[in-house]
Amino acid sequence: MSDKIIIEGLQSLQADATVFYHKLRHYHWHVHGPKFFEIHAKLETMYDHWAEVIDALAERAVMIGGKALPTMKDVLSRATLKEESEIPELKEMVAHVAADLEAIIQEARKLKAAAEKAGDEDTVAMLDEFTLTESKTLWMLRAFLK
Ligand SMILES: [Fe+2]
Repeated sequence: MSDKIIIEGLQSLQADATVFYHKLRHYHWHVHGPKFFEIHAKLETMYDHWAEVIDALAERAVMIGGKALPTMKDVLSRATLKEESEIPELKEMVAHVAADLEAIIQEARKLKAAAEKAGDEDTVAMLDEFTLTESKTLWMLRAFLK
């Protein structure tokens, strides 16, 4: 059943978005150096946004008859992104954020293609908006790294 593929895709995105969210918080807490104020604040803006992303993905899975991932154990077993416990230097930190974001965008594009095939127009619309927004953020992160 095609809905099952879309639900599983949304759950996988929820898992990666959750790992990403926590990484943003970790970096927000531990960033240091001359750009502290700028990056500390930017990371807060980003994790607030990702809390909403997680919510939208989870609710979409429920709306189409599935379940959102209920536990952190489920999240970690389904995530493809790696957690981070180290405190990298600022540029490396931003590079990690950019790499994770790029991976999530690619994952969302694959799910969008599956949703198109399944005729799930609302999931396609949701993911269209998502990839457009996140691609802009990725562009800004890459500009910062140049
Ligand atoms: Fe804070």
